[in-house]
Amino acid sequence: INNQYNYMTAKVESWGSRVGLILAMAGNAVGLGNFLRFPVQAVQNGGGAFIIPYLVCFLLMGIPLLFIEWSSGRFGGKFGNHSTPYILDSMVKGRLLKYIGVFGIFTNIAVVAYYCYIESWTMSYMFHSVMGTFTGMTQAEVSAFFTSYVDIGHSTTGIPYEAVVFYIICLLINTFILSKGLSGVEKVAKIGMPLLILFGVVLAIKALTLGTSGASEQFPDANAWDGLNFLWTPQYESLWDLKVWMAAAGQIFFTLSVGMGTIHCYAAYVKPKDDIALNAVSAGFMNEFVEVVLGSLIVIPIAAGYLGLDWVKENAGFGMAFQTMPYLFQQWGEVLSVVAGVMWFGLLFFAGITSSLAMGTPWMGFMRDEFGWGRNKGAWSFGAMALILGLPTVIFYQQGVFDEYDYWAGTVSLVVFAMLETILFSWIFGMDKGWREITSGADIKVPNVYKYIIKYVTPLMLIIIFLGSLFKPLNNDWSGNVSSLLSGSGWNLDNGSIIKTITHAGIHDQIAAATDTAQIAALEDKIFYLNIARFLLVGLFVFISLLVFIAYKKRVKEGRATL
Ligand code: ALA
Repeated sequence: INNQYNYMTAKVESWGSRVGLILAMAGNAVGLGNFLRFPVQAVQNGGGAFIIPYLVCFLLMGIPLLFIEWSSGRFGGKFGNHSTPYILDSMVKGRLLKYIGVFGIFTNIAVVAYYCYIESWTMSYMFHSVMGTFTGMTQAEVSAFFTSYVDIGHSTTGIPYEAVVFYIICLLINTFILSKGLSGVEKVAKIGMPLLILFGVVLAIKALTLGTSGASEQFPDANAWDGLNFLWTPQYESLWDLKVWMAAAGQIFFTLSVGMGTIHCYAAYVKPKDDIALNAVSAGFMNEFVEVVLGSLIVIPIAAGYLGLDWVKENAGFGMAFQTMPYLFQQWGEVLSVVAGVMWFGLLFFAGITSSLAMGTPWMGFMRDEFGWGRNKGAWSFGAMALILGLPTVIFYQQGVFDEYDYWAGTVSLVVFAMLETILFSWIFGMDKGWREITSGADIKVPNVYKYIIKYVTPLMLIIIFLGSLFKPLNNDWSGNVSSLLSGSGWNLDNGSIIKTITHAGIHDQIAAATDTAQIAALEDKIFYLNIARFLLVGLFVFISLLVFIAYKKRVKEGRATL
């Protein structure tokens, strides 16, 4: 009775203002992915070779998915649904189809668990920048600081288990803001987004004025502009490299937060008659500005300027921002290095928190819609699940738990859900109805060509990408494997294919090749921890599916569901 009372009388939340909505949506998209993942993906995939596939994926998958998710969200919101299981259920009837929506809650909780860990690094690094911890450190020392930070067993940072402490503080901040509801999220976006852009522009100008030659006295041949030239000189032959396409598509999904379920949830709080088309495009382009302009103007040019482009190419990785930047900032003098440290890690923090907050909302929306849970209960239960799932990524970071989550939840899940929801939207809900939803209330004229792109091109590309990742051929040699298949010699799967990843084929190969018993033991240990990670992820997925089932039974009992 209590529950029923709650959701019948609870005032339905909605966004305070359009600016707030767009900034929250842009904040959802703009994240650590823009500043940490994008530059690394671009460098690892040949710089200018990456850019064309990336932009094509943005236009042919990114924008269509934004339209699909915004319009699905607003549509479901009309029926009081704020998370993907019942948003999808309000669009297409079918007993099982709503379980596709489980992805849209699952992915958020699983991603937030490891995402908040990086977010907590940014807090810790801001703290250490102010405290002057990095002053006088050599590059090797800054790098060692990071290694010992994430190596929980051998913490030399002074405070034992510092990583765990900052991680918990970070989760607490997120949970607290979420408990204030949508208006809390909106407030953070309104402060965080402008600050982030300001910090980004200042750092970018500083990077560009490092000079065109002899950017650093220590490394006189290094050149900041080398980094930019490498990133922005298009290389057309890359158009034939499927590996680059896969990486570009993965980056587009992650950076726009499509295939996640967050956009649906945010859009479900848009009023039925309000625009979504212009909003979707605005938030999407704001993300692209931050990613391709600011995201490529900071780490790569500064690192190239001081250490040389070759160093960047060899060392490109997620940790570059943490292992290198605090050292490079020191070349700017004592005061500026603190200011730059606070700006850089502050920028990353705001980018991170506006995304991690978004990941809390689908769960909270679902529990409220179905079980009448209020904000506090919703937020704290979300924080608790993130903690249970997240602690293993913190404590067993070195054993690969973090990467395992990123692979299954932050990469594979996004593609699977994006593919299924696109097929559902274009072919089951139907493109005519879908187009009406996208264009109704629109403040721009959506180009008609998108009707055909969404119906044919986007689903086809998503299916190709999904199958391509599932059956990735040995050494990424597509043409070789196709001819081998045609000549009857079969298809050889790469260890990086989804199928071979499931069986840990790559690690088993390493074990087979290893001679050192300690190394073999470490690899076997790794398999053990990865299996625990998988157990937790599968457990979460099953748990949410069960909740969707219980919610369905409850709806039937209350006469709110027909099937
Ligand atoms: N879209 C968010 C990011 O780029 C998740 O980090």
